[in-house]
Amino acid sequence: MKVFLTGGAGFIGSHLVRQLLQVDHRVFVMDNVSSGAWRHLPARGNACTCWQMDIREASVKAKICKEKFDVIVHLAAQTMVDASIKDPIFDASENIMGTLNVLEVARQCGARVIFASTAAAYGDVVDTDLPVLETHELRPQSFYGLTKVGVEKYLDLYHELYGLDYVVCRFANVYGERQGDSGEGGVISIFAKRIVNGQDITIYGDGKQTRDFVYAGDIARGICKAMTTENVNTVYNLSTQTETTLLDLVKVMREVSGRDIVTHFGPQREGDIYRSMLSNQKAINGLGWMPEITLREGLKRTLEYFEQNK
Ligand SMILES: NC(=O)c1ccc[n+]([C@@H]2O[C@H](COP(=O)([O-])OP(=O)(O)OC[C@H]3O[C@@H](n4cnc5c(N)ncnc54)[C@H](O)[C@@H]3O)[C@@H](O)[C@H]2O)c1
Repeated sequence: MKVFLTGGAGFIGSHLVRQLLQVDHRVFVMDNVSSGAWRHLPARGNACTCWQMDIREASVKAKICKEKFDVIVHLAAQTMVDASIKDPIFDASENIMGTLNVLEVARQCGARVIFASTAAAYGDVVDTDLPVLETHELRPQSFYGLTKVGVEKYLDLYHELYGLDYVVCRFANVYGERQGDSGEGGVISIFAKRIVNGQDITIYGDGKQTRDFVYAGDIARGICKAMTTENVNTVYNLSTQTETTLLDLVKVMREVSGRDIVTHFGPQREGDIYRSMLSNQKAINGLGWMPEITLREGLKRTLEYFEQNK
């Protein structure tokens, strides 16, 4: 397949590029390297073309439409919740206007679009709604979540009006090698970097808050499934459907790293949700996808990576 990947030099993109190249896809990456880096990608060779370009540029369509893509995986985004609240216009310029540029390319070349959405689309949910189903009401609490929901709705209308096929993947808290510490779900990368440098870590709140941590390689496999599934024009959560408390997370990191991790506690951060877990039943049935990497194995790989890259 000929795959156009936006944001491919980023954290999740770097996992996806590796998997796509392993199965002989032809990959074209567009990235402005604002948070990603070309060094995240394996030696490129002929199978991977890299364009350093911003998805908001007017010339994107003309450049890309020369190629005929089968699939567009759209990962490029402003990914910081806080930044979206401080500057909603910047968030919308990247996540709405930039995305529309990409969707126009898809419309012109008839490519299927795989879109990286987020658990933040759901906003706060009550405990009785866990694990959260794709049909759960969407009430984002940040502009980041809101622009992701907006794009989901654009995709639906592009499908109705232009027949464009799409798959929306709402990721839980993704972690793994090459993760930055500014975007979504960065608690593991923040802890991992401090641990390998022998520094203390701080948990905000009582540590009993939970997250649904899913390994980036599993997310990349889910995206690959979405590229070929017949069950399109719908939304899938990609998650482990498992709650892990931060206390348990630190316990596993302590065991895996073999280090004595000094942990401090700070006040719970305003706006932080307490419990989080997404249902993955629809992805199991519709995509034939299941996460394979255990938290222990994923943390081992992550800690090793940060150890080697400190
Ligand atoms: N990491 C998570 O836990 C998580 C969870 C849910 C959803 N997501 C979504 O997955 C996608 C990938 O996230 P990530 O964690 O790999 O983040 P990332 O910041 O590592 O990757 C984003 C990439 O997009 C590029 N980019 C940003 N703006 C761009 C622009 N205007 N033009 C071209 N390139 C641009 C960045 O340079 C970076 O390489 C994002 O859409 C994010 O919202 C991530």
